[in-house]
Amino acid sequence: MEKREIIMDCDPGTDDAIALAYAAAHTEELKLLAITTVSGNQSVEKVTVNALRLAEFYNLDVPVAKGMDTPLTREPVYASKFHGETGLGQCVLPAASRKAEEEHAVLFLHRLLAELPEGKKVTIVATGPLTNIAMLLKLFPQVKKHIREIVFMGGAAMGGNVTPTAEFNIYTDPEAARIVFRSGVPLVMCGLDATLKCTLKRKQIIKLCQSGNPAAGLCGDLAGYSLENTSNKYRGEVSIHDVVPLMYLLHPDIFKIQSTILDVDCSDGPARGTTLCDFRWWEHEEEEMDAFILMDADGTRFQEELITDIYELGERIKRQKEEGMHS
Ligand code: RIB
Ligand code: CA
Repeated sequence: MEKREIIMDCDPGTDDAIALAYAAAHTEELKLLAITTVSGNQSVEKVTVNALRLAEFYNLDVPVAKGMDTPLTREPVYASKFHGETGLGQCVLPAASRKAEEEHAVLFLHRLLAELPEGKKVTIVATGPLTNIAMLLKLFPQVKKHIREIVFMGGAAMGGNVTPTAEFNIYTDPEAARIVFRSGVPLVMCGLDATLKCTLKRKQIIKLCQSGNPAAGLCGDLAGYSLENTSNKYRGEVSIHDVVPLMYLLHPDIFKIQSTILDVDCSDGPARGTTLCDFRWWEHEEEEMDAFILMDADGTRFQEELITDIYELGERIKRQKEEGMHS
């Protein structure tokens, strides 16, 4: 199977960090071309430091470019409770030897896409607010021909986590989401309808933490922080939202998918950031139903795939470290 070439735009963030582990575990199927960072869970400075350290920890030899430091028109809304002041809970990773790219992430993405050969397309996986992607599409619409699809974690057909109806990534920058929704680029929305079923349970997290496996230990600590420092502690499990776009690319059968038309509430009222999903196919031409949304997920399959692959990544990291010590 030909490797799918992807770019990850993210705001690590505990679940983004686990998503990067999942990407690192799948270098056979996914070719990660670059990581770009965006203000979201924490400041863009903090999430960029995290992305550099995570890439090095997972032995991901990819460029990291720092992006937008605020939403397009609004003030940042950091998620310190869920992700901690650093963005990675209480995890402390070694300082990265690699620096971020000099170029702003939006310019970096433009150059990377513009330099692709004619007909080449890559998938953008976005797990933070869509600010970078919106800027890219507005400033450089000609790059759309090189984007196969944007698979993003955000929104919901029903429900919210910041408000009763709005999800964090969309709530943080609804204007950016609207630009992406109206861009004409093929979209797959991995919203709360699916991600609330894609969790790790407390007992699974404890096993990860106690495993002695480097990747499992880190991901267990990250998930454990978000579990025990939020109301998820009463739920006994925590959603690993940002793994879902990647798991959809590799195991679409885990999910139930539906076509729709996406819009978003950009008001300042109680519905700010609510995604509006129009499923009325009988009201629209087929080509208007240009987005897909994940409407359900097999949570048990999600857990099996994620836990197995994190352990395998950790074993690989240990081998690579031993080989490095003997080289
Ligand atoms: O609502 C969950 C999303 O918001 C995830 O991407 C998480 O990292 C936060 O950014
Ligand atoms: Ca995120």
